[in-house]
Amino acid sequence: MTYSGRVPGHVAIIMDGNGRWAESQGLPRLEGHRRGAKSVREVTRACRRLGVRALTLYAFSEQNWFRPSSEVDALMTLLGQYIRGERREILDNDIRLSAIGRVRKLPDAVRRPLESLMAESENNQGMDLCLALSYGGREEIVDAVRSLVTAARLGKVQEGQVDESLIAEHLWTSHLPAVDLIIRTSGELRLSNFLLWHAAYAELYFTDTLWPNFGETQLIEAFREFSRRNRRFGRVGETVPPPDAEVL
Ligand code: FPP
Repeated sequence: MTYSGRVPGHVAIIMDGNGRWAESQGLPRLEGHRRGAKSVREVTRACRRLGVRALTLYAFSEQNWFRPSSEVDALMTLLGQYIRGERREILDNDIRLSAIGRVRKLPDAVRRPLESLMAESENNQGMDLCLALSYGGREEIVDAVRSLVTAARLGKVQEGQVDESLIAEHLWTSHLPAVDLIIRTSGELRLSNFLLWHAAYAELYFTDTLWPNFGETQLIEAFREFSRRNRRFGRVGETVPPPDAEVL
């Protein structure tokens, strides 16, 4: 599919609606997550092809641990299979895999293949693929504050040095560019603890499409809408920075 409009540098997606998709088809919820994994593949390929620099996917939130254990186990199995199954494609396409969140809480069957593929792909430069796993935006800010307090106690940071860019350096996303576009599928109109700091100047795009029905066509539609947005970062006239250049 051809697309010649503006491409956001960093796209982040809240992949919602797997359960409702399954329900609508009379299938178990797990089947919705399986189909969701297919959308992950299609959207990742499309982002790589269209020249997106970074793609962050909300695969499992800190709050998702409170789902029934059968669903949590099934999601973990699916994540482990996905990471092992995508290894070749990730490496062949020069993709650098990373993760944000309380990754140490993940079972070994997910954490081990994840850490090994992160290490194997760490020098890749074609695109960043970042999985938000056991992720929470407030938790990310809490951890950044803790790390700054530790740095201050060690005398490495003075109070007057704490500014937005220093905080950003202590977030889990410090290796990624600023978020340009946050997409949420399935008609819900909230951020659900996703990338709270980063959402400050990101464009938000909500669609009723359920995640298993979201693919390249729907991604390009989101990019078209993004192209129509006039990003001013709170400024006016000539002081407006060029599109997609968040400046701290
Ligand atoms: C939300 O749908 C989705 C999730 C909680 C998990 C997202 C997981 C996947 C897309 C599949 C595996 C991920 C990867 C990276 C391969 P929901 O279950 O909350 O849907 P509902 O709101 O309709 O119940």
